[in-house]
Amino acid sequence: MDRKQDIADRLAAIGYIADGELAMALVLMDMLKRPLLVEGPAGVGKTEIAKALATLNGSPLIRLQCHEGLDRNDTLYEWNYQRQLLAIKAREGQDADAVEAQVFSESYLLERPLLKAIRQPVAPVLLIDEIDRADEEFEAFLLEVLSDFQVSIPELGTVTATTIPRVVLTSNDTRELSDALRRRCLYHALDFPDVDREARILLARQPGIDTTLALQIARLMQEIRRQELTKVPGIAETLDWAAALVGLGISRLEEDRKAVYETLACVLKTREDRARMSPEVTDRLIGKVA
Ligand SMILES: Nc1ncnc2c1ncn2[C@@H]1O[C@H](COP(=O)(O)OP(=O)(O)O)[C@@H](O)[C@H]1O
Ligand SMILES: [Mg+2]
Repeated sequence: MDRKQDIADRLAAIGYIADGELAMALVLMDMLKRPLLVEGPAGVGKTEIAKALATLNGSPLIRLQCHEGLDRNDTLYEWNYQRQLLAIKAREGQDADAVEAQVFSESYLLERPLLKAIRQPVAPVLLIDEIDRADEEFEAFLLEVLSDFQVSIPELGTVTATTIPRVVLTSNDTRELSDALRRRCLYHALDFPDVDREARILLARQPGIDTTLALQIARLMQEIRRQELTKVPGIAETLDWAAALVGLGISRLEEDRKAVYETLACVLKTREDRARMSPEVTDRLIGKVA
């Protein structure tokens, strides 16, 4: 059986359209039990890979959204300080050791995404989203977690994962990631889709769209992305735009050029980009694709 084609087909059935290279990366991820690092511009479907994998495997999705200043407390566990204080107050005068053991027990533990992923009884999909936004120290700590899926909590002991989570890391490439992290992971560079893949995404995700319109929109998106834009539109923008055109009852772009121009609000998100795609430019591009 062609495992690559099989996973691509099953993803398509739940609305995620992957090319052959990504499908192979996903096969390898399962085969070698390695995290997958997906790098690419905003809006190309990086985050969605993790969501689709979770749906596909019927496994829970645990998401860790990275940001500057993220540290181990935010991602592993914290003690519920307020509840601990209340409990200590309520037990005033009781044996101090017993109280301490009590307040550093499971029910006072606040589980954060990484610990949660390690303690899941069914292997989850762990999405570490936009790792490039976190600091390098955090990256080093993450590497430790990803190499043994084991965490030591001084008061409770060592917790080891019973089943290895499927890990997807995404990066928008805003900074260089460490060599060590790259070495640990499988790698996939995800870029804007080609016409064929974007048209298939439209057919999969936009009810009521016909093949010709989907192709026209996909072709026009290629042209738009070739313009010098300050913010290159992603797939979500394409989908919004298709929904708008279908909603307005448009079945061919050349049919209503004015509406196409006016609905570019779905796609172009800065003043400069709106100005750049004048009615004349839009008209010319429609002429190229329709
Ligand atoms: N390959 C794909 N198949 C189907 N839909 C997709 C695909 N890639 C992206 N999308 C759509 O585009 C949206 C944006 O993708 P997202 O994963 O959030 O982008 P990124 O994380 O790369 O910024 C998703 O919510 C989904 O609706
Ligand atoms: Mg994302």
